[in-house]
Amino acid sequence: MSPYTIAIDGPSGTGKSSTAKEIARLLGIDYLDTGAMYRSLSLLGLEAGVKPGDEDALARLADGMELLFPSLGVVVLDGRDVSRDIRSAEVSARVSTDCAVASVRTALVARQRAYAQGRSCILDGRDVGTVVFPDARFKFYVDCAPEVRAHRRVEELKAMGHAADFSEVLANLVERDRLDSTRAVGPLRKADDAVVVDTSSVTFQEQVQIILDHVRKGLPSI
Ligand code: DC
Repeated sequence: MSPYTIAIDGPSGTGKSSTAKEIARLLGIDYLDTGAMYRSLSLLGLEAGVKPGDEDALARLADGMELLFPSLGVVVLDGRDVSRDIRSAEVSARVSTDCAVASVRTALVARQRAYAQGRSCILDGRDVGTVVFPDARFKFYVDCAPEVRAHRRVEELKAMGHAADFSEVLANLVERDRLDSTRAVGPLRKADDAVVVDTSSVTFQEQVQIILDHVRKGLPSI
């Protein structure tokens, strides 16, 4: 079978990364978390004292960084495992600004295309089906009511032992959606030919199954 690409886009907190990882595992294909690439660059910027959104400095860091994804969910940046560090509050606070820089997007989109060359894979992000792979074989847009996403995030934070205020989490999430969907380059938007999966009232297993059913219908041999 020739290699195929599955693009999953949608706002933050819809469960698209966990879903994409599970689908990759079930289909035995590779998974690329494109958000982790933007987060890795923001981590480098943070450590180097670069101001959020500083185009020249970020473009230099983006060109020079080495990123590897040795196994599902593991991100190795310039030789060190940063899987946890890229999820820190400091990185989350600046990544929406850094990822809106045009030359940063050009550099990381090129890497995403190179990664998918010659292999079947699933990628999740904001612009995978619209900009990175407009010809992807399968495209999904995962959506979910902001209140449901905020509630799930609060539960996750509590489970990790962090204090979490629902209104604050909700406001933060709505603001990130606003920044991601209003930027000039590669904004978050549904591709015209993407299948919409609303996860507001389905379980994780159900959302995985909905996507798998579509893929299996298109690829009866898997
Ligand atoms: O999915 P995430 O929360 O890990 O993404 C981190 C940030 O990167 C978020 O602000 C959206 C941005 N992003 C993007 O602009 N384009 C992508 N393809 C993936 C993520």
